[in-house]
Amino acid sequence: MNILIIGSGGREHALAWKLAASPKVKNLYIAPGNAGTRNVGKNIPVNPNDFPSIKMAVIENDIDMVVVGPEVPLVNGIHDYFLDDKLLKNTPVIGPVKAAAMLEGSKDFAKDFMARYNIPTASYKTFASDTIEQAYAYLETMTPPYVLKADGLAAGKGVLIIDKLEDARQELSKMIIESKFGDASSKVVIEEFLDGIELSVFVLTDGLSYKLLPEAKDYKRIGEGDTGLNTGGMGSVSPVPFAKGEFMQKVKDRVIQPTIDGLKAEGIDYKGFIFFGLINVKGDPYVIEYNCRMGDPEAEVVIPRIESDLVDLLEGVANNNLSDKEIIFDDRVAASVMLVSKGYPEKYEKGKPITGMENVEKCVIFHAGTAKDIESETIKTSGGRVMAITSYGNTMEDALKSAYENAEMIEFDGKFYRTDIGYDLRKKE
Ligand code: AMP
Ligand code: GLY
Repeated sequence: MNILIIGSGGREHALAWKLAASPKVKNLYIAPGNAGTRNVGKNIPVNPNDFPSIKMAVIENDIDMVVVGPEVPLVNGIHDYFLDDKLLKNTPVIGPVKAAAMLEGSKDFAKDFMARYNIPTASYKTFASDTIEQAYAYLETMTPPYVLKADGLAAGKGVLIIDKLEDARQELSKMIIESKFGDASSKVVIEEFLDGIELSVFVLTDGLSYKLLPEAKDYKRIGEGDTGLNTGGMGSVSPVPFAKGEFMQKVKDRVIQPTIDGLKAEGIDYKGFIFFGLINVKGDPYVIEYNCRMGDPEAEVVIPRIESDLVDLLEGVANNNLSDKEIIFDDRVAASVMLVSKGYPEKYEKGKPITGMENVEKCVIFHAGTAKDIESETIKTSGGRVMAITSYGNTMEDALKSAYENAEMIEFDGKFYRTDIGYDLRKKE
């Protein structure tokens, strides 16, 4: 079959790498892809949010399935666009319809959904400009730190955690009144701060049943020891040592199954990945956020740990028979280290030549912000997160050692990476 992947990051390269390995795939396309996806498929220069151009690409290339990587096209309704189009409606899309993507697209929607189905999450209230006085009053009732969340999509930047009440009041006003995050912060969720250790849990669902994928932990801050600005993610590891036994049973019983059942009860046919951003509070899981897609850089460790044919599983999603499929994990640990451009996550330079990729050993390089310069045939940086170096190991220690040895070998001007990925879990391994 012919498959089209939408997106251009490390997550999409990991998906492309895995799908390309399936004997079921004839042609693999990535729109728009990066310098790494060119090695496993054919890049098509189409913007993920330009649905008419995606339609043309699907028809021209005789695409049998579309796999959507990022959240924005999903929240913009790419799946609905296919369902509403005479020529596209029979082409399966892996990724939820807009109504379900709202689990990520609106924090208020997600919180209400969790409240309706008794899914454990921080207590909260949502406010807008006409209720700002009530919002200030609600803040007074909370204990610090204060958690303020822009309702809409804000490229991972819409959550603020603030120690002082006065600062929280000011930020709240900036969000709602001064549109700090544009329309996304016209509504703001204020919620209770939860103290615990975070992890990311993923499932694939056809809307009827689900398959649990390997879990992961990502490292979001730019600085060592989880300090400094938030990024898209600086590295990840899978498995997470505490994600087993009784804890995972609680995750399934209290979070995953009620979510699948809730979607069904609301008449929403969810087809695709669900990402549960969880926090373990003294052994009990709480939902911090839902995402309607795979995580990035979690995908760069989760997908390498899926041994089964991913195309076969995605066919199960498309054909409503996922429950007949088997999913096998690779028992090894996978660890991924993200190489980023100097200055990231603030202003950074692009266009730096990348060298040394031919020297790496026993790792997989997943490109993120890279582009191939056609004239010089060189690969250059084209984004803040440049590439993820993923290695396997029998222990987390081994996997990280190999990922770091290989991270050393790749060079570009201004290369930076965190040297402490997995630090909080290694102690507990
Ligand atoms: P999100 O954009 O929803 O992933 O939130 C960004 C980060 O903020 C999360 O990864 C958590 O580290 C933190 N966070 C969000 N909500 C809470 C909460 N209620 N309590 C503690 N930390 C939180
Ligand atoms: N790594 C977090 C995310 O993909 O949102």
